Amino acid sequence: MFGRLIATVSQRVPSVLKMASPRMKPQVVFVLGGPGAGKGTQCSRIVENYSYTHLSAGDLLREERAREGSEYGQLISDHIKDGKIVPVEITINLLRKAMEETMKQDEKSFCFLIDGFPRNEDNLQGWVRVMDGKADIKFVLFFDCGNEVCIDRCLERGKSSGRTDDNRESLEKRIQTYLQSTRPIIEVYEKEGKVRTVDASRSVDEVFADVKAILDKEG
Ligand code: ADP
Ligand code: C5P
Ligand code: MG
Repeated sequence: MFGRLIATVSQRVPSVLKMASPRMKPQVVFVLGGPGAGKGTQCSRIVENYSYTHLSAGDLLREERAREGSEYGQLISDHIKDGKIVPVEITINLLRKAMEETMKQDEKSFCFLIDGFPRNEDNLQGWVRVMDGKADIKFVLFFDCGNEVCIDRCLERGKSSGRTDDNRESLEKRIQTYLQSTRPIIEVYEKEGKVRTVDASRSVDEVFADVKAILDKEG
């Protein structure tokens, strides 16, 4: 069913990605790290200082969950609460559409921070199927942070976030998913020399100083 969905969407929507000249090929930084490592916080700081568009896979899924008429609302809701990774066919279409819309609005906006993706083998394969050759992965920005710090930050965030997964029960599952499914993906990129690791357990400013050094060097 999902394969057909991708086929249908790509037939209907004239793809900006397909039309992009080599100079405009989307340049992607994947942003990974445990739940609460500070991915979203650091991406906001990057956007203030550099020409990047921030796309959070989690935010896009939450938007899709809330969209009236979405056929995936319940599935997304269940997966988020259980800390499970949503089938990539859904996520990759949301990401692709968001990238296309950004580039359609402004052809100079072709640098993307893709936050919280790829989070497992299914995500990675989905990216390769849909985006291989259509976007360059510059590097992976990895926010390295101990599980206890991650949990404490999410519990603190949970006091005001309204998120269904910022509670201890969901967090334990999210940490397991991170350790079992996401870390191996980071290792795949590590072997390719593509990972830039930042110690994310420090203050926002200290973390951002390292992020800045990486971006100033790598663009
Ligand atoms: P992620 O997107 O990785 O889940 P967030 O950026 O949403 O993480 O941060 C999770 C919570 O921790 C937020 O409440 C945020 O304000 C806070 N936070 C982010 N970075 C830091 C930091 N370096 N030190 C302390 N708290 C932080
Ligand atoms: O990154 P964020 O913490 O916002 O992700 C929240 C949840 O969204 C994840 O725990 C997972 O259930 C879902 N998600 C997903 N696939 C992704 C990113 C997020 O299923 N690539
Ligand atoms: Mg986030």
